[in-house]
Amino acid sequence: MKPALSKIGEQMSHLTGVRAIMKDINETLRAGAGQKFINLSAGNPLILPEVEQLWRDCTASLLASSEYGEVVCRYGSSQGYAPLVEAIANDFNKRYGLNLTERNILLTPGSQSLYFYAANVFGGYTSSGDLKEIILPLSPDYTGYGGVTLCAEALIAYKPTLDIDFSAHKFKYRPDFSQLEITENTGCVIFSRPCNPTGNVLTDDEVKKIAALAAPFNAPVLIDSAYAPPFPALNFTEMTPVFGDNILHCMSLSKAGLPGERIGIAIGDEEWINVLECFQTNMCIHPSRYGQAIAARAINSGKLAEISEQVIRSFYQNKFTVLEENLFAAMPKDLPWFLHRGEGAIFAWLWLDELPITDWELYQELKQVGVIVVPGSSFFPGLREDWLHKHQCLRISLTGSDEEIAIAMQRLAHVAQQVYQRAAVSA
Ligand SMILES: Cc1ncc(COP(=O)(O)O)c(C=O)c1O
Repeated sequence: MKPALSKIGEQMSHLTGVRAIMKDINETLRAGAGQKFINLSAGNPLILPEVEQLWRDCTASLLASSEYGEVVCRYGSSQGYAPLVEAIANDFNKRYGLNLTERNILLTPGSQSLYFYAANVFGGYTSSGDLKEIILPLSPDYTGYGGVTLCAEALIAYKPTLDIDFSAHKFKYRPDFSQLEITENTGCVIFSRPCNPTGNVLTDDEVKKIAALAAPFNAPVLIDSAYAPPFPALNFTEMTPVFGDNILHCMSLSKAGLPGERIGIAIGDEEWINVLECFQTNMCIHPSRYGQAIAARAINSGKLAEISEQVIRSFYQNKFTVLEENLFAAMPKDLPWFLHRGEGAIFAWLWLDELPITDWELYQELKQVGVIVVPGSSFFPGLREDWLHKHQCLRISLTGSDEEIAIAMQRLAHVAQQVYQRAAVSA
């Protein structure tokens, strides 16, 4: 029976961005029984043995402790499990010379929920009817921001400038400060650093400049650090987390091997944290505590930061090198393709300038040769204007074997060459 939905019901029952593509991918995989696909679409991290062992050991320690009953058999505080709050405060105070107290920290069931709370607490209509905007200062960015606001018109993204090295076939996005508008209408600002999908890392100066623009309006700047140091430390270039009065530093343990346990972390101003905590209480009472209890152990022992730096980072950095080397060896040098500088995260981002077909059509052609990537147009939530570039990019996940990545890049180069050639012949 077709349900009668509210306006919000209608909005929230649509799949947005990459989730919509995932449906197509899953159907393709199911229908193509027998056909072998190289699936480089996933944002799901691979299971690395050292990382799995860490979580197994922390679980064994929890099971053996008297704390176990308290963790799973009792409700707890909405702010999160106290030993994890304390572990984070201690770790960050020591590591970054901060003065955090437990009032500066909120734990959420995954960081996606944290963006949902923040987008609706700080963005949308005020009681006096003003629209507070949620600003994405550099588009493309995480596709999940497209689904977090209950007020779709509040989400506004800005086109970047492109720093292109033509001869090296490389490029990098930078925030376009000449266009970016942060005003009294700004409710909050969100960006990922390192960025999903591009692997871009905004410089410390760029981050400070964005925070300074938002400061006079008391607008929180949420820095989505799902791939940042100290865990999972998926930065391949030097970067330091930036803290400040109007910065909400947001983290996730998903890429540190714990996506199934759903742990998000917000660090910031006490009053902002309090508002988000109230939202959380109304929404789900509190996040589940088993994952939080094992995370407290992994952080207190120093193991999580250590494994992140020594295992997780090098694993994905090597994957990026394999991808880059194979892509550069296979792609024709005379075509206008550019790989985004691989500064972090678990993806490569390829821009095919003057692509004669859309990214979605290219995605379909790649499926025909057994390669699945994600069409780039899914990663521009909030960007209203039509920009050809939106339909000229692909996100390629680094979650394949070296051999799969190598084969996929050869096939991708072959298909790209054919696509440009077809257009040249018919012109
Ligand atoms: C940039 C970014 N932010 C947030 C998330 C959501 O992560 P989670 O809800 O698992 O913490 C993801 C997941 O892929 C991501 O890539």
